[in-house]
Amino acid sequence: MANNSKIWKGNWTFILAAAGSAVGLGNIWKFPYMAGENGGGAFVIIYLACIVLIGFPVMMSEIFLGKYGRSSPVYTMKKFVSLKGISSYWVLLGWFGGLAGLMILSYYSVFAGISLAYIFSPIPADSMNPSQYSVDFFAQFQSSPMRMIFWHSLFLILTCIIVARGVVDGIGATIKVIMPTLFFLIILLSIYSSFTGEIEKAISFLFMPDFSKISSSVIISAMGQAFFTLSLGMGAIMAYGAYIPEEQNLTKTVSLIIFLDTFVAIIAGIIIFPIVFANPELTPTAGPSLFFETLPVAFYGIPFSFFASALFFILVSLAALSSSVSLIEPGTAWMEDRFKISRTYAVIILGSTAWLLGLGSLLSFNIIADFQIFSMSFLDFMDFLTNSIMLPLGGLFIALLVGWILEENFVKQEMKIKNEIYWKIWIYLTRYIAPILIGLVFIFALF
Ligand code: PFF
Repeated sequence: MANNSKIWKGNWTFILAAAGSAVGLGNIWKFPYMAGENGGGAFVIIYLACIVLIGFPVMMSEIFLGKYGRSSPVYTMKKFVSLKGISSYWVLLGWFGGLAGLMILSYYSVFAGISLAYIFSPIPADSMNPSQYSVDFFAQFQSSPMRMIFWHSLFLILTCIIVARGVVDGIGATIKVIMPTLFFLIILLSIYSSFTGEIEKAISFLFMPDFSKISSSVIISAMGQAFFTLSLGMGAIMAYGAYIPEEQNLTKTVSLIIFLDTFVAIIAGIIIFPIVFANPELTPTAGPSLFFETLPVAFYGIPFSFFASALFFILVSLAALSSSVSLIEPGTAWMEDRFKISRTYAVIILGSTAWLLGLGSLLSFNIIADFQIFSMSFLDFMDFLTNSIMLPLGGLFIALLVGWILEENFVKQEMKIKNEIYWKIWIYLTRYIAPILIGLVFIFALF
C-alpha cells in the first residue's frame, strides 16, 4: 500500500511522471509513422478527437481510481470491491492491465533498443547519398538478430534497474531533467527541419484531411494510438495516481499532460515529414522504420552533427525509459504487495518475461518474418492486440466503472469538482460519449 512517505512531493512530480509515461516512442516514433500509413490529415483529426472526447475523461477516471485506492491497480480494485461493494470481477481490470503492460513492454523495448543503438550510428560525414545510406543502414540493422537482441536486453535491464530503485527515487528524479531538455531539442529540430525540408507539403499532409482515406482500420488505429500515447487503459496512470498528492487539481493536471503529449507528437510530425518529402528515397508509408530512416538525415550536414544526433537519441531513449518504467510499475507494485517480495525480484521476473516475449517481435524483422497470425507478423499482431483492442477495452471498463457503477456523489466529491456545469459535461463525457465512441469503433472495425 502507498503510505504517506510514498506520496509524491509537490504537484510537479506527478505531472512530470505522468507526462514522462505519456511522452515516449508513441509520440516521436509511432505517431508520425501511423499518420504516414493512414493517410495523414484524416488520421490526425480522428486521433485528436479521440484524445479530447475519450482520452480526457478516461485519464481523469484512471487517476481518480488510483488516488482513492493508493495502491497497485489490482489492490485498488480490491479496495473498491470491499469498500464500495462492486462485483469482485472488477479486479480482473487490474490483472488485465498488468498483462497489457507486459505485452507492450516486450516490443516497446525492441524499438527503444534501436534508439539506444542509434546514439552511436550517425550517417558518416563523407556519405554521398545520406537518405539512401540511412535506409540501407536500417535494413542491415534489422537483419541482424544478435545485434537487436543486445540492444533490446540492454534497454530492459535499464528499465528494471530504475523500477527496482522505486518510484519516487527512480522515476521522479530522472524525469525532472530529461523532459525539459527533450522539449527544447525537438523544438530546435522542428525549426531546422522546416527550413531545410518541404514544410508546406508536410503541413498539408498532416493537417488537410482527405476524408476519402477514412476507413475502419484508420479509425481503429487512431483510437488505439490515442490510448497508447496517453498511456491509458492498462493501469499505468492508475498506478501513478496512487502517489498523487491529495489536493492536486485533476482537471488542470490532466489538461497539461494531454497538451504536452499532443504537442510533442505534432512537433515530431513537423520534424519528420519535411525531410521525408524532400528526399525521394524516404516514403511516408515506410511504417515503423520511418523514424529511424528519417532522423539521421535530419542531422546530416548540420554543425556538430555527431554530437547533436547522439544527444537526440540519448533523449529519445530516456523518454522511452520514462514510459517503459510505467509499463512495468503496475505489475511490480502488485507482486510486491501480493507475494511480499522485494521490488528487485518482482522486476526480474516481469522483465525476463517481457524479454522473452519481445524476442518474438524482434525476430519478426528477420528469422520469422514469414510467420503470420491472422495475416499479421508477430510484431504487428502484438501491436494490434494491445493498442487497438486491449487498451480501448480497458478504457471502456474504466469509464463504465466511474460513470455508471460508482455512486455519482462519491465520484464528484472525491474529484473535488465544484462547478456544476463542468461536472455535468464531465460526467456526460464519461458516461456516454467515451463508452459509446469506443463501442462504435469496435463494432465498426469488427463487422
Ligand atoms: N505512452 C507511451 C508512449 O507514447 O511512448 C507508451 C505507453 C506507456 C503506453 C505506458 C501505455 C502505457 F501504459
